[in-house]
Amino acid sequence: MLRVRAALPTDYPDFARLFPELTAEHAPPSEARWLAEMVATTLIADEEGAAVGYLYGQPLAQVGYIRHLVAAPGARGRGVGRALVLAAGESFRGRGLSRWCLNVRPDNVAALRLYASVGMKPIFESVFLHFADWARIDALPEGPPGVIAGTCAPDEDSRAEADTGVLAGTLTDARARPGRTARVLRDGERFVGAGILDPDVPGITPFEVATPALAGALLRALRPFRRADLAHVEVRAEANPSLAAFLVAAGATERLRTLRYEGAL
Ligand SMILES: CC(C)(COP(=O)(O)OP(=O)(O)OC[C@H]1O[C@@H](n2cnc3c(N)ncnc32)[C@H](O)[C@@H]1OP(=O)(O)O)[C@@H](O)C(=O)NCCC(=O)NCCS
Repeated sequence: MLRVRAALPTDYPDFARLFPELTAEHAPPSEARWLAEMVATTLIADEEGAAVGYLYGQPLAQVGYIRHLVAAPGARGRGVGRALVLAAGESFRGRGLSRWCLNVRPDNVAALRLYASVGMKPIFESVFLHFADWARIDALPEGPPGVIAGTCAPDEDSRAEADTGVLAGTLTDARARPGRTARVLRDGERFVGAGILDPDVPGITPFEVATPALAGALLRALRPFRRADLAHVEVRAEANPSLAAFLVAAGATERLRTLRYEGAL
C-alpha cells in the first residue's frame, strides 16, 4: 500500500539514492544540508516500508515551490508522483499558501502531464547559463555609475523582492540556509538587482537584474563568496531572454531550458 509521510532525518540514504533521477549535474546535497534545510519540508512515498519517491518543497511567503519530485524508476506509472504532488498541495494549503510552482524540462512528458492535471500552466521559460570560469565575468561591463552592490537588511527583503521580481520570501528564506550569500544592486532608493549564490552547486538562483548591463555588477559582488575549488558557476535567467543572450555573448554557454509551471492551490 502506498503511503505519503513526512520525511525523517534517517531518510537521507533514500533521498541520496533517488536524487540522481532528477539528472542534475551536481552530486546529491550533503547529509548536513539535508538535515539543516530539506528534511522539514520533504515528503516520502512509502510502499511496504520502502521509499519509492520523494518531494522536496519550499514554502515561500505566497507560493509553495516544488523543488524536487522523484518516483523511483521501478515504481513509476502507479500513482507515486501524483500522491506526492497532492500531499504537497495539502501541506502548502495548510500553511496558508494559495499558489504553487515548479520548474520542468519541456521534454519531460510525464511530469508535464502530471502538473497540467493538477491545474498548473507554463508561465515562462528559464535558461541556465554556464560560465566555465568565474574569470569570464571580467569581460562584462562594470555597470552604470550610481548603481551600488551590497547587502540587504532583513527589513528591506520584501521591497527588494518586489522591485526585482524575485518571488516573495526568497531573500528571507536564503538567510536561514547555511552558506548562501545574497547581494542586491541599488540605484538610489530602488533595488535593480538581486542574486543568491549557492557555492556548493555552484549557482546563482535567482539572478534578477533590471537590465542585462547590470549583470556584471551582480556577478562581481557575489564572486568573493565562491568556493575556491570550483572554477565554474551557473546562472539562471528567468523569463529574461535578453539577459540570456547577453550572457552568452559574454562567454557563457547555454546548458538547459526549463519551463516555470504555476497554478492556484
Ligand atoms: C515525473 C514523475 C515524478 C511521475 O511520477 P509517477 O509516479 O510515474 O507518476 P504517476 O503514476 O503518479 O502519474 C501521474 C500522471 O503523470 C502522467 N504520466 C505519468 N507517467 C507518464 C508517462 N509515461 N507518459 C505520459 N504521462 C505520464 C499522467 O498524467 C499520470 O496521470 P494518469 O495516470 O491519471 O494518466 C516520474 O516520472 C519521475 O520521477 N521522473 C524522473 C524525475 C523527474 O523528471 N521529476 C520531475 C522533475 S520536474
